[in-house]
Amino acid sequence: MAFNTSTFVTSAPSLADCPPEDLPEVCFAGRSNVGKSSLINSLVNRKRLARTSNTPGKTQQMNYYNIDQKFYIVDLPGFGFAKVPEKERKRWGKDIKQYLYQRKTLNLILHLVDARHDPTRLDEDFFYWMASNRKPFSVVLTKSDKLSGNKLAASKQTVKKILEKMNIEAPIIVTSSDSGRGIKDLQSLILEFINY
Ligand code: GTP
Ligand code: MG
Repeated sequence: MAFNTSTFVTSAPSLADCPPEDLPEVCFAGRSNVGKSSLINSLVNRKRLARTSNTPGKTQQMNYYNIDQKFYIVDLPGFGFAKVPEKERKRWGKDIKQYLYQRKTLNLILHLVDARHDPTRLDEDFFYWMASNRKPFSVVLTKSDKLSGNKLAASKQTVKKILEKMNIEAPIIVTSSDSGRGIKDLQSLILEFINY
């Protein structure tokens, strides 16, 4: 069965520190506090595999998890966190972009957006960057448990319009780590991309 065994592999500050490119991988990107680490825990049905926090900026390095000895899940540090010093933020951009550009075994980028907030300029830049570099990616709306049905539909529509405007075709998946909504869909999407 998929997503059955999950183990922490390593924390990599930059591409050079990542494990050998021996398995396909999927990474979780998005603003700080959007729920990347929580979603990873939900996917593998573990409470504390990836560390989470109320305070943005919890995940500081690229954390690798081995799933079923078949693929890696990579938890990326969040971007756009105002309290991180300028120098650190620049390093984030450089290291993560290098990873996203050059990692040959990266089969899917999941870009998470908090369903309660419109995508920011940084999110839009990220969509655009991924599309222009032809990276396979999907948008994942998080924390859907915090919104009513109508508001959630509106939020999905907003993202859809932004993607359409940029001529980007990418699936949008609605999730909640709290209620479990969309977790199965996300699992199926990941398995498809990593050719499980
Ligand atoms: P960084 O590592 O700082 O980039 O953050 P992150 O994106 O990994 O976020 P994290 O998973 O640590 O979650 C941030 C906060 O949001 C925590 O307080 C979580 O409990 C909360 N949270 C995450 N997912 C959900 C969700 O689906 N529903 C609700 N209600 N809260 C959530
Ligand atoms: Mg995190």
